Amino acid sequence: MHLFVTGGAGFIGSAFVRIVLAEAPDCRVTTFDALTYAGNLDNVHDLDGKRHRFIQGDIVDRDAVRGALAGRPDAILNFAAESHVDRSIQASDAFLRTNVLGAQVLLDAARAFGVKRFLQVSTDEVMGSLPDDDSSYFTEASPYAPNNPYAASKAAAEHLVRAAHHTFGLDTVITRCGNNYGPRQHREKLIPLLLTNALHDRPIPVYGDGRNIRDWIYVDDHCRAILAVLRRGRIGEIYNIGARNERRNIDVVTSVLAALGKPASLIQFVPDRLGHDRRYAIDPTKIEQELGWRPRETWESGLAKTIAWYQAKWR
Ligand SMILES: NC(=O)c1ccc[n+]([C@@H]2O[C@H](COP(=O)([O-])OP(=O)(O)OC[C@H]3O[C@@H](n4cnc5c(N)ncnc54)[C@H](O)[C@@H]3O)[C@@H](O)[C@H]2O)c1
Repeated sequence: MHLFVTGGAGFIGSAFVRIVLAEAPDCRVTTFDALTYAGNLDNVHDLDGKRHRFIQGDIVDRDAVRGALAGRPDAILNFAAESHVDRSIQASDAFLRTNVLGAQVLLDAARAFGVKRFLQVSTDEVMGSLPDDDSSYFTEASPYAPNNPYAASKAAAEHLVRAAHHTFGLDTVITRCGNNYGPRQHREKLIPLLLTNALHDRPIPVYGDGRNIRDWIYVDDHCRAILAVLRRGRIGEIYNIGARNERRNIDVVTSVLAALGKPASLIQFVPDRLGHDRRYAIDPTKIEQELGWRPRETWESGLAKTIAWYQAKWR
């Protein structure tokens, strides 16, 4: 199988390419990435040249996408996105451009080139926020309720994917995951930011009261779930991906500080993010039962790998 991976020089996309090359010998990969501020060629430069090819390009650029698809891939996996909520609150244009228009350009190209399957990498944030005082969960049937421009752009992309399936019969699948952690994440995100600051004894900013809850998953577990959905997911379906690992932000910070032997006095509470979602919690029963997927890492084992990677990188 020839996979066309957009956004493959980013955090999750590059982890996915690595998993495919290591664990799916029947697959080869074309990585297509614009190398925005969030993309990093170092994330993929060491990969096997026989089964991997990198093309720099923008998913909004129809000609560039068509040129790259001349290699006739079997599947497109769309990881490319503007991904940082705080940036979308500052200015949303780039989010609409890449996350919405870019998705449609890829869907059109998938039809034009007879691509057999289109997988959209989406997020639990399209379903909004859950109350933190109950045990409700996001399921695949939860209504759309995006609360920030990033989430709204990802929800819009899901609608376009659904429409391409319904209108044109394109074989599509959508995956929705919670917060990822692991190697090669951009420093603007919570865990790399707190690791960098803690390692340099700098203050660690925590939004609001620190009690916002996220559902954390080690990035390789997310990537194996995507591979399972690509291979065996039912056409037109959505699959939620989660490791049943809800944590308050403040608890994430304290467990990392404890692992590094750094004092809690580094924590600095800062004014809350505008419209900050309170709780995300994913029910992964569908992917577990239909596809037999399970996460391999616990929070402790995944965090230990993550910390070791950043310590080695910044030593
Ligand atoms: N990080 C998470 O916790 C998380 C959780 C659920 C879903 N997701 C989704 O997973 C995907 C990957 O997230 P990530 O954290 O790896 O993001 P990232 O910001 O680390 O990487 C995004 C990549 O997309 C590339 N890109 C951006 N605009 C592009 C364009 N116009 N054309 C081509 N490439 C472009 C960037 O250069 C970068 O390499 C995104 O679609 C995101 O919405 C992320």
